[in-house]
Amino acid sequence: MRILLLGKNGQLGWDLHRTLQSLGIVFAVDYPEIDLTSPDSINKTAQEYQPELIINAAAYTDVDRAESEPDIAMDVNGLAPGLLAEQAKALGAALIHYSTDYVFDGKKGSPYVETDRLNPINVYGRSKLEGERSISQVNGSYLILRTSWVYSLRRESFVTKVLRWSRKKQTVRIVSDQIGSPTWARMLAEITAQVLAKADGSLVHWIKEHRGVYHLAGKGAASRLEWAQAILHYAPHSEEQITQEVQSALTAEFPTPAQRPLLTAMNCEHFQNTFGLIISDWKETLHLALETE
Ligand SMILES: NC(=O)c1ccc[n+]([C@@H]2O[C@H](COP(=O)([O-])OP(=O)(O)OC[C@H]3O[C@@H](n4cnc5c(N)ncnc54)[C@H](OP(=O)(O)O)[C@@H]3O)[C@@H](O)[C@H]2O)c1
Repeated sequence: MRILLLGKNGQLGWDLHRTLQSLGIVFAVDYPEIDLTSPDSINKTAQEYQPELIINAAAYTDVDRAESEPDIAMDVNGLAPGLLAEQAKALGAALIHYSTDYVFDGKKGSPYVETDRLNPINVYGRSKLEGERSISQVNGSYLILRTSWVYSLRRESFVTKVLRWSRKKQTVRIVSDQIGSPTWARMLAEITAQVLAKADGSLVHWIKEHRGVYHLAGKGAASRLEWAQAILHYAPHSEEQITQEVQSALTAEFPTPAQRPLLTAMNCEHFQNTFGLIISDWKETLHLALETE
């Protein structure tokens, strides 16, 4: 199988590049080889590699900067996925795309299921929601995997920030009113590959039969404070930590350009039931991540 992977240098893309190797020939690209703000660049890349599967792990992910660059965020996250879906359909290929818990407003009060009301409260969330819509409108063979609070230790993430602070600050203040489902990029890449390995017969038909949006994130929920405490607990080289106290703070104390939805934990039962796969607990996965990477 010829697989075109976009966003190979990102948190998820880096792990996908490694994990997908056993499934086919992987053509992995990133900016500037492909520029998702340019329809020409998207179309040329798809035509050049003639993939049977396109996996889009590229995105404009700077939630705060998106507030001042809404057009770029919309091009990359909103329009480009639709163009990829059109290219996939024209080539007889399937598309796997990732979306975000930030398509929700965070006001539901319990973990979100796929059919909950979509109501993004920032530019990033609106652009990602547009991406979901532009893919589904093409009506091809696609899976949209909505994930949440992605981290790896290779690129700057909440986990690497907390580890850095723990070596520099006696006291760290972390918000306790943002609740989500921390998701290790490697787990996300591996479970994506496991879904693909389940396809029997034509992958494109199989994905078409299962097409739609699925929630896929670390199992369970944590506040950022609980997540930080777990990071410090499992961090290797604890002798380097100087942090004595982790204090609870509120999101309102740290004004940022983009408003964040407060409770966006995800219910992933639909994914698990459909594909017969089990998602591991966010804390156990974090432990593995900190031992491994
Ligand atoms: N990170 C999270 O907490 C989170 C949460 C929920 C959902 N997601 C979704 O999960 C997916 C993977 O996220 P991630 O954290 O792995 O993202 P990431 O680490 O930010 O990687 C995104 C990749 O896309 C590339 N990119 C950005 N603009 C581009 C453009 N115009 N043309 C081509 N490539 C471009 C980036 O290149 P540069 O580095 O050069 O910009 C980067 O390599 C995304 O769909 C994201 O929306 C992420």
